Amino acid sequence: MDLLIKNGKVVWPHATLEADIAIDAGKVVGIGHGEVFPKADHVVDAEGKFVVPGGIDPHVHMHQPFMGVTAVDDFDTGTMAAAIGGTTTVIDFAFQQKGRLPMDAINARRKEADNKVVIDYAIHSNLIEASDEAIAQIPKIIEYGIPSFKFFMVYRKEGLMIDDGNLIPLIEEIKRNNGLAGCHTENVAMIEYLVNMALRKGNRSPIYHALTRPPLNEAEALNRALYITKFLDAAFYDYHLSVKEGVELIRQARKEGRPVYCETTTHYLTLTEDMLKRPDGLNFICSPPLRTREHIEALWQGLADGTISAVASDQAAFTLEHKKMGKDSFEKVPNGLPGMEFRVPILFSEGVQKGRISINRMAAVSSTNVAKIFGLYPKKGAIEIGSDADLVIMDPKAEKKITIDNCPYKIDWSPFEGMKLKGSPMMTISKGKVVVENGKFVGKVGAGEFVKGKISEEILKRPAA
Ligand code: URP
Ligand code: ZN
Repeated sequence: MDLLIKNGKVVWPHATLEADIAIDAGKVVGIGHGEVFPKADHVVDAEGKFVVPGGIDPHVHMHQPFMGVTAVDDFDTGTMAAAIGGTTTVIDFAFQQKGRLPMDAINARRKEADNKVVIDYAIHSNLIEASDEAIAQIPKIIEYGIPSFKFFMVYRKEGLMIDDGNLIPLIEEIKRNNGLAGCHTENVAMIEYLVNMALRKGNRSPIYHALTRPPLNEAEALNRALYITKFLDAAFYDYHLSVKEGVELIRQARKEGRPVYCETTTHYLTLTEDMLKRPDGLNFICSPPLRTREHIEALWQGLADGTISAVASDQAAFTLEHKKMGKDSFEKVPNGLPGMEFRVPILFSEGVQKGRISINRMAAVSSTNVAKIFGLYPKKGAIEIGSDADLVIMDPKAEKKITIDNCPYKIDWSPFEGMKLKGSPMMTISKGKVVVENGKFVGKVGAGEFVKGKISEEILKRPAA
């Protein structure tokens, strides 16, 4: 046997149990008492620590060209950072290019990531055009192992938006082929109207990014997406939910038994729009924008009561130099925040340690639910016999302050700089191999692989995660 993790508190979404985990050839082969297992080459003592399913980040944009610049995390350095933060699988996006087909983007993403990633990865297909040829590729994309899609209801000027008329045939085809459609839900007309008004009045400082994208604007688009998918009787995933009105809409749809899912992000759970008023406020521009405290509380409530299924990082690593593109006007700032290396630690410290969610709920929203929703379960997101041995050992006593120093990729700031963390990953194990020990990456470039998703009928029929 390759590895035995002894004495840890093993965490599943519905239970915590003191047990030993036996690992061989990259898989979990036993859960119970170590004495009954054959001798292992390597033994880790996890006394006093939690052993949780390796994190699965459902939303990262690694090395993504966006708004004229490219995020600075490569697939090797980026996935190293993710692993240091307790993540063992990331789901990235393949953006269709104008005039090209979505499969071209997927092939390009595979070329970029394969032989570089240090942990496993999956892909969402992000379509920006609804041509007949693009729609015709949907069955092939799902068959390939990419069953989830994202559409932007915004970014019209950037050429990324899919309008309602085009959403309908796209979602219909995804549904027909057992895929899962999802949207970035913001109302483009309201935003363009408010941005034009703000600019006309000379209101160009970063806070106007939030003021021109008010909560109702996100709620309206989410409501519309929910009605469109109700009309089509299709499942739906809302990417990066940030508002309390949206939590209520999702809660209602799930109460009706609809297969509706959503994620929020670490930054919407912790940071307020006041960050945009700071002298460095432009750095904090992301879409949807950061909100106020009442939205933060509603998001935690939604996470705790099962309304929100997952927590993402929405990693988009733009540097201080990139952000300066908007120093004279908020709408020129590349949207997005870095932070996938802090997703699990923040969820543990701000969520579990502060009593907002249980450690079991953390396992669900940081890993198991993501695997279920995107069809990676039980290979991923599970501590079960036969599952990939993707595990994180969390030390609940370790105290740290977030700093961007020593980040493996070339980012020069963190939105969470200075945040105090109680609890931290002390070891990350990917497919049975220790890849991070005491904050140091000890894995291998290229050891990660593309994992295919296939979404279960249960997920597509009712709210099953
Ligand atoms: O501001 C954000 N969220 N940037 C990344 C692109 C997206 O919308 O997910
Ligand atoms: Zn988005």
